[in-house]
Amino acid sequence: MEIIQSPSDMTSWSNRMIVDGGKIALVPTMGYFHDGHLALMKRAREECDLLVVSLFVNPIQFGPNEDLDKYPRDFEGDAAKVEQVGSDVLFAPDASAMYRSPLTRVVVSGLTETLCGSDRPRHFEGVTTVVAKLFHIVKPHVAVFGEKDFQQLAVIRRMVGDLNWDISIVGHPIVREHDGLAMSSRNMYLSSEERKKALSLSSALAFARGRVQAGCLDAEELIAEISTRFFSEIDEVQVDYISIINSEDLSPQQKISENSQLAIAAKVGKTRLIDNCRLFEE
Ligand code: PAF
Repeated sequence: MEIIQSPSDMTSWSNRMIVDGGKIALVPTMGYFHDGHLALMKRAREECDLLVVSLFVNPIQFGPNEDLDKYPRDFEGDAAKVEQVGSDVLFAPDASAMYRSPLTRVVVSGLTETLCGSDRPRHFEGVTTVVAKLFHIVKPHVAVFGEKDFQQLAVIRRMVGDLNWDISIVGHPIVREHDGLAMSSRNMYLSSEERKKALSLSSALAFARGRVQAGCLDAEELIAEISTRFFSEIDEVQVDYISIINSEDLSPQQKISENSQLAIAAKVGKTRLIDNCRLFEE
């Protein structure tokens, strides 16, 4: 596996591979890999003959009071894991190479002001800007993203469609711990008490799916039930939102239907966690 740091070296590598008929899959990441990341990489491996994993803790998607400085990092450990998956390249630029004095941002309006965007005002423009840059630098044919960041995936799909990019965006299902907690690099911030409380997110999703199966199709009623049953009496768990939305345009829904997605964000202690699911069985 090659470790490439310079964006222009990365592009030269991709150009050489593409001239030879290679098809490139990209998995963009911020590192500190867990099994969820590895599942994305394995999925990407199946999609194309060449795999590039990017590792870049993107400063412009963090707000001023967020965890950029303490975001977990383990370059050596990450590189070993990427190598084991059989990646061809680990692309790990540093911030000065990615952003010299940037004046340009890529903004997907409409989908980014709600849900996580209402609490994290410039977060998604940071994500779309860096993903657009990674797409230009790496030139992938396929890019794989996790469905845990459900809004992010919808925003990226929209960006790619709106800008006529010939890149196929693949969403990979959420990978969970044995007890249901969605895997996330931020889970490492949780104390053991908080770790137990964090289960209220995945338990709420499972409960909601059961209620829909039993015939509850009223979004407001279901949200009220979830919030009373799972979040009203737990200290240190503060809900940011519980929303039932259309899975493509993220618009709020009154009546639950085939394309309804339930999305939850909550702070457990100081750690902000998100989770989501389709409400109807697939
Ligand atoms: O999902 C993430 O880890 C990040 O938002 C991404 C897509 C790598 C962009 O920095």
